[in-house]
Amino acid sequence: MASVKTASSVFVCESCGTVERKWHGQCPGCGEWNTLAERAEAPPSTGKGARRGIGGPSPVSPANVSSAQGTNASAAVQAVAGRVSEPVILSEVRAQRIRRINTGIVEFDRVLGGTGASGSGIVPGSLVLLGGAPGIGKSTLVGTALGNLTAAGVPVLYVSGEESPEQIRVRHERLGAAALNVPVVAETDIDAVIATIEAQAVQPQVCVIDSVQTLYSSELAGAPGSVGQVREVAARLMQLAKTREIAIVLVGHVTKEGSLAGPRVLEHLVDCVLHFEGERDRTFRMLRASKNRFGSVDELGVFEMGEQGLEEVQDASARFAAEATCNPGSVIFCAIEGTRPMLVEVQALVAPSELEQPRRLANGIDRNRLSMILAVLGRHAGVTTGDKDVFINVVGGVRIEEPAADLAIALAVASAAAGKPLTTRAQDGSVKPLSAFGEIGLTGELRGVGQADRRVVEALKFGLEQTIVPQTKGGEGGIGELRTAITSAFKLAG
Ligand code: TYD
Ligand code: MG
Repeated sequence: MASVKTASSVFVCESCGTVERKWHGQCPGCGEWNTLAERAEAPPSTGKGARRGIGGPSPVSPANVSSAQGTNASAAVQAVAGRVSEPVILSEVRAQRIRRINTGIVEFDRVLGGTGASGSGIVPGSLVLLGGAPGIGKSTLVGTALGNLTAAGVPVLYVSGEESPEQIRVRHERLGAAALNVPVVAETDIDAVIATIEAQAVQPQVCVIDSVQTLYSSELAGAPGSVGQVREVAARLMQLAKTREIAIVLVGHVTKEGSLAGPRVLEHLVDCVLHFEGERDRTFRMLRASKNRFGSVDELGVFEMGEQGLEEVQDASARFAAEATCNPGSVIFCAIEGTRPMLVEVQALVAPSELEQPRRLANGIDRNRLSMILAVLGRHAGVTTGDKDVFINVVGGVRIEEPAADLAIALAVASAAAGKPLTTRAQDGSVKPLSAFGEIGLTGELRGVGQADRRVVEALKFGLEQTIVPQTKGGEGGIGELRTAITSAFKLAG
């Protein structure tokens, strides 16, 4: 390790922790490329968590940092190693009752987590990262939430490093009267932001930083948005959140590849990572958590971007079921997103290919999963697509990750390949799309999936009387083979 002298910043390898005074493209320690990130002053080895202020006996204060100047890293480690911590028995730790701050947006609160007496919503003093592609609606979402909180009498602050108050006003005018009462600060210097928050006559309980990539610390040489800057800014805000019990929402832009320096490097630091996704030219937007220290990561929030901001879509099933095309290649999948059942339409197109390597395009599902399903279809169910282009789309920009979607995808492909619609006639005489769920195994078997009853009930609720279901684990009811499922589906369609 290079010795750290009194330089104002150092470069630390994110892979092996090597500390360098100068930036290198390749880490001299481990040989990894592009892993060196700029950090302020103190080397990272001055105690895990201390910088974050969680559980650490004393968070690193500027005084502590400067006292570490001029010493080397190992001396600092020894100083920390000398402190004795008393272990505690978990059953003797007083359980904390979390009182959550309700944002007034049901779909947002559910993803943030919590139920019952404490309600759902944001946890005081927590750090939330809201990531998403530019233009997806992050500022609109947080703007609406802050408007609701202001109307409910919760002190808030909106810090924007991207837009001027005039620009923010234009957006908030569309979000309603409450959104216009949100106090706004346009600032990009992290010192000024922290000083501003601390100087508020009434301390905000919720503070939004839009976006974390626009803030910078003058102690670091890197440009705003660089890995080092984003980390430093987030670490400073984390300390503020914990010491003053202010819930802070960091808005962060991610490109489709998730590559832009920023949100990715913060995931380990924050309490909750939310992704706001969807296709820009489609109106539906999905909010998911990929990490949540205070709740489940399975919940899904559905929104639709309209003229007056984001509307919550609490009846997603009704929307998707009613809009299903009932054409060849269309099947409804009964999904369970967290605690919520949801019907979504899966569409397939199978067309003769002119390419040597036929195309496989998957929108909303994993491409490898599609390859597996096509292989099983060909090998065990007589549906061959080797010389055909196959396109799959989950309508509305929804992304499905459950293996339970396998059967719906397979049936959509079989229907598209045969050019026959998989529709059924309901008791009232209307034509309805077929619904299905079930995991497909490599030997062509259908496997039972969780919450089968709830999926069937959801389909029934929206008038889908016919659902192809897999056998349960005990081998009861349902269908056990993919081949049989396809035959039954075509028989039902008549
Ligand atoms: P925005 O919240 O600014 O996105 P982000 O902060 O994620 O970059 O809004 C994105 C888009 O949404 C923008 O192109 C305009 C559109 N929009 C509406 O269609 N209706 C509205 O009411 C608002 C506020 C925005
Ligand atoms: Mg924005």
